[in-house]
Amino acid sequence: MVVMNEESVAAIVPELDGSQQLALQRFCQGSNLALFGRAGSGKSEMLRRMIAVAHGKWGADAVAVAALAGSASSLIGGQTLHSLFGMDTRPLSREMWLRDVLRRPHVCARLNNIRVLFVDEVCSIPSSLLDRFGYVMRRIAAPHMQHVPFGGCQVVAVGDPLQAAPVKVTDTSVDRMVFDCCMWRTTFEGHHGVVSCLTGCHRQSGDMEFQKLLDRVRWGRAGDATINRINDTWETRFTCTVTKLRIRKVAVQEINQMKLSAINTPEHTFEATDVFLTDDPRAQKQAAATLRGCVDLVVTLKQSAVVILTRKVQDVVPGSRGVVREVITRELVIDDRVCQVKGVMCDFGSRVVEVSIARFPAYNSAGVEVAYCDQVPLLLGWAITVHRAQGLTLDAVEIDFRLDTWSTCGLVYTALSRARSLSALRVRGLRRDLIRVSRLALAYYESCLRESGVAPEDDGRPSIEA
Ligand SMILES: Nc1ncnc2c1ncn2[C@@H]1O[C@H](COP(=O)(O)OP(=O)(O)O)[C@@H](O)[C@H]1O
Ligand SMILES: [Mg+2]
Repeated sequence: MVVMNEESVAAIVPELDGSQQLALQRFCQGSNLALFGRAGSGKSEMLRRMIAVAHGKWGADAVAVAALAGSASSLIGGQTLHSLFGMDTRPLSREMWLRDVLRRPHVCARLNNIRVLFVDEVCSIPSSLLDRFGYVMRRIAAPHMQHVPFGGCQVVAVGDPLQAAPVKVTDTSVDRMVFDCCMWRTTFEGHHGVVSCLTGCHRQSGDMEFQKLLDRVRWGRAGDATINRINDTWETRFTCTVTKLRIRKVAVQEINQMKLSAINTPEHTFEATDVFLTDDPRAQKQAAATLRGCVDLVVTLKQSAVVILTRKVQDVVPGSRGVVREVITRELVIDDRVCQVKGVMCDFGSRVVEVSIARFPAYNSAGVEVAYCDQVPLLLGWAITVHRAQGLTLDAVEIDFRLDTWSTCGLVYTALSRARSLSALRVRGLRRDLIRVSRLALAYYESCLRESGVAPEDDGRPSIEA
């Protein structure tokens, strides 16, 4: 159990809003914690702070930080859930998973050693996966802990039930949303855990009109007035270049390549290779898949290309959009040899910073680095997939809803909520029928709010619009 004295809690509390402070206190009491809240309520921020607390308390080896997708996990400095459990994405039964894990003593040892498991974007995980993770954790625990959820490891899971649902999961599908299963209930409800809701709005705090429109979309209560107001933003003229959000990766690649080829300056190619630190072909395959989720092997840039930063550089945060000023080459002496190292001078509006090659590591389930890829932490930024943008704050966003199929529940809200304000948004083609919200998610989230003592209206649930 993580128990902190009041002083150490107070040291990290001041800038947090009331609901964040409450969540931190609950975390410090040591119970499992599911933390919900609208996009921009500061969930990932809380996660970072709680991770720092857990590191101080238990040491980094006893803390696991993970998300389902590589891009989401790299935002919080973690690994994918599959790599933590040493699994690939084959659909195996939970017994098969357990057998696979038990065959590998180092995987068991690592998982057994975890005192706190942090999971971001938990609502992107289908219930079948949570069930497997929980089952494995319980069955590899010491016999006297096997009746406790996750074998007694404290689980902190953070997400928004009203944002994008897992692929292929609907209210009627066989696989369910993460909170709609026994494993969730035993872990976070009852006497082993608690569900807490963050009610702040930090990303859009500067634009209350936009916040209200977003709440309407989030709760599935957007009428014509809301939709028209959002579609009116198509008239927005940005002085900077805008990032288009698309559903499919091929569309994104096509846009970025087209824009890049329209620039008449020399091309700079950053080629990377995955370096494997293990001979195990299965671990290699898995590590390569993890790395591809957050870093490309070839990044081609030109002067004036629009880019998105995927790593924090100085105080420029991931998700910031910039423009390439120039590609530079520095001579560095490494191990008595002179090496030429490329870097990219990028203009992020407020400042120009040098973006150097960064190391993207991939870990195995034992938390040991098994591969890495040294690549420039930049993506071409004229377009990006909604999936990859989840969790990011983007400076200027364009969405043409006529171009893609927006059938997943919560996806429209996830996309729109990347912008900070209406003036950072350019949208057309939004229709009422594209805004899909899971009834189950709504009902569950409302019940969680009520149990936290928050009236849904106070968390932005609007009245129904004509
Ligand atoms: N208490 C706070 N005060 C000011 N800004 C905050 C606070 N909590 C979070 N933020 C900022 O709000 C933005 C959104 O936070 P984030 O944690 O990414 O939201 P979420 O994960 O809930 O979508 C980030 O820029 C973050 O730094
Ligand atoms: Mg987040």
